[in-house]
Amino acid sequence: MSTNVPHSAQVPPESTDAVTETGVVETVRDGYDAVYDALPRSDTFNGIWRTNAYRGEFPAEFAHIGFLTLAEARRLLDLLELADGDLLVDVACGAGGPGLWAARETGASLIGIDPSAAGLAAARRRASRVGLDERSRFQLGTFEHTGLPDGAADAVMSIDAFQYAPDKQAAMAEFLRILRPGGRVGFLCFEVDARRVEGVPVLGVDPVADYASLLDGAGLTVEAYEETPGWAERVQAAFDAVVDAADVLATEMGERAAAGVLAEATLTVELKPYRRRILAVAAKPT
Ligand SMILES: C[S@@+](CC[C@H](N)C(=O)[O-])C[C@H]1O[C@@H](n2cnc3c(N)ncnc32)[C@H](O)[C@@H]1O
Repeated sequence: MSTNVPHSAQVPPESTDAVTETGVVETVRDGYDAVYDALPRSDTFNGIWRTNAYRGEFPAEFAHIGFLTLAEARRLLDLLELADGDLLVDVACGAGGPGLWAARETGASLIGIDPSAAGLAAARRRASRVGLDERSRFQLGTFEHTGLPDGAADAVMSIDAFQYAPDKQAAMAEFLRILRPGGRVGFLCFEVDARRVEGVPVLGVDPVADYASLLDGAGLTVEAYEETPGWAERVQAAFDAVVDAADVLATEMGERAAAGVLAEATLTVELKPYRRRILAVAAKPT
């Protein structure tokens, strides 16, 4: 960690807390571990995702497995108002692409949190490749339990993952706890239609169709709440392409990882669980 950053941006010591939730988080983590391990082996998956999920509109060295475009990422950074030397926390960082991109753009330090050890390992390799290992750190945790001290973060971000949190109210309380007064949380994720996910694992556990009232109820001041352009077409195209390439993906990624992405693709295309994909930004009162 660089020592010339302001006090608020000093990266706190890594928590030794293990990921302790049972059930939902373990299910998701095991699936993502297999996917992150398989990604370097599958040009087909990486190509499908890049072309369809974000239309190639994100720098390749910060590639990700969400739907984030460069325009959306820039909008998020504008709203977060991060400054050089600030501490940014990316919750559900996965292999670290969007968080590291944001750290490079702003000069912020980064802590990435995810329950997937394989995702975190990939994020550390990427940080080193892009020359950001000195001001980034990646550690196990979840939305509800980041393991970070009170008031440590100048900003919190999360990309295409919050719909998986099994207790969103607890997650909001955690955002509030780890933000400094005046700090902001910004996320892109899917609003979930509860009627369509009744009994469905993970998405059906705590479906939320309106994150603005949840943010407000947690004591955060909502500053932006916007539907992201073109999301439905990109979701459909990406998951259709995954279904079409099922055989090649099984060969390249291995049965387990391919089955995971195929299950998510089939569920998304058939159930249509998402009302909208939104970008939300809210501030902790000063
Ligand atoms: C679609 S991926 C997105 C990863 C990354 N943000 C990106 O854009 O590439 C979803 C991520 O959410 C993480 N995740 C799932 N449930 C979580 C939870 N309860 N708390 C924190 N992260 C979670 C997964 O491990 C996975 O890395």
